[in-house]
Amino acid sequence: MSRRSFLKMGSAGLAGAALLGSAACGGGGGQQGSGEITVGFGRETSGALEDLINKFNKENENVTVTWRRMPSSTSQYFDQLRTEFQAQSADLTLIGGDVIWPAQFAANGYIVDLSDRFTEEMRSKFLEGPVLSNTYDDKVWGVPWFTDAGLLYYRADLLEKSGYSEPPQTWEELQEMAQQVMQDQNVKFGFIFQGAEYEGGVVDGLEYINSYGGEVLDPNDASQVIIDSPNSVEGLAMERSMIESGVAPQAVSTYAEPETEAPFLGGDAVFARNWPYMYSLAGTGDFIGQDQIAIAPLPAGSAGSVSGLGGWNFFINAFAPEESQNAAWEFVQYMVAEKQQKEFAIKGSYLPTLKSLYDDPEVKNSVPTVRLAPEALANTVPRPVSPVYSDMSLEMAEQFNASLKGDASPEEAIGTLQEQLQSIAEQAPS
Ligand code: GLC
Repeated sequence: MSRRSFLKMGSAGLAGAALLGSAACGGGGGQQGSGEITVGFGRETSGALEDLINKFNKENENVTVTWRRMPSSTSQYFDQLRTEFQAQSADLTLIGGDVIWPAQFAANGYIVDLSDRFTEEMRSKFLEGPVLSNTYDDKVWGVPWFTDAGLLYYRADLLEKSGYSEPPQTWEELQEMAQQVMQDQNVKFGFIFQGAEYEGGVVDGLEYINSYGGEVLDPNDASQVIIDSPNSVEGLAMERSMIESGVAPQAVSTYAEPETEAPFLGGDAVFARNWPYMYSLAGTGDFIGQDQIAIAPLPAGSAGSVSGLGGWNFFINAFAPEESQNAAWEFVQYMVAEKQQKEFAIKGSYLPTLKSLYDDPEVKNSVPTVRLAPEALANTVPRPVSPVYSDMSLEMAEQFNASLKGDASPEEAIGTLQEQLQSIAEQAPS
């Protein structure tokens, strides 16, 4: 498997590593920037981003940052950005962007090569996986802001009442337990996840496929699509069976992340698949409290438990004037410094990208997603890295959704994808 176990946290020397403050990483960037810059980013539910931007603006006389709210769906955000880049727009100086974008944006000359600014010494303080996912053509194009891994959220209180002391280990077990708890305690939904036709649906579909040993691209030759395997079919069949068995509502085929929050945190579901951020929403508004929920790695298929690797990074717009690019770089350094990453993790339950924070007692105590991270992050699988990934993603989104809804059988969906993805892969610049 092309699994990349990227959380290499061992290195003892790290514990005492110097704080990565602005002053410590000023090198390589050249001039100080100034002016007003706009950063693009989608939905941030905890308010932590807004707070940090306000603090930065107060502390910095020369640079003022404005946040332009981009679509919460990463697929729509991408489309909007691509249109702006094609028009060589410099409206956004800085992009808080998805881990799947660097290859495509770099290959098209839309974002700045940050290899000199984001020096090797700085990079060594970050988790290896997120840095690798910003590396394309031997250059580094983005700075990892927070990382993401798919997690299983469960109602610890309901499980206990039905006599379960542990979360499910396999997808089959999840189905059995969900059915039991739904029946015992009259809970509306057993399991909800992101099944809509968009990028999140691709991640969820790939988690099933990968957990049964299916893969999209040949690990030794990325021009070869190998998705057509009994393993991939088994994965999609398991996803589909969540609806067939009545464990998931038919409506999961229209759910993205925001639609997952209300049913689970509103108390209507036993299990949910979502990213770490959702934890910080528990206990807010009418939602159930953090004491009622727990988090575990996703259940295993025949090849083990797999979490889709997500994450967000800072990319600088190549069409922006140099002075704005320098100003953006100052803000990037601020945002990824230890103090700010810590605040972001504690308030928003995001997974930091600095290794040192995984040993920080305050972070570990208040953010269970970080405590779980070594386990969940050890089994992350990245999506295919390719300058034509967005085209591949559109096809996967369509077929995974068709299979989930029962409009295509898992065999048909996988067979169609083999052909479509192979012809897209052949268009990729080598
Ligand atoms: C999360 C992940 C991102 C992924 C998206 C899908 O935001 O961090 O990588 O593409 O979800 O909805």
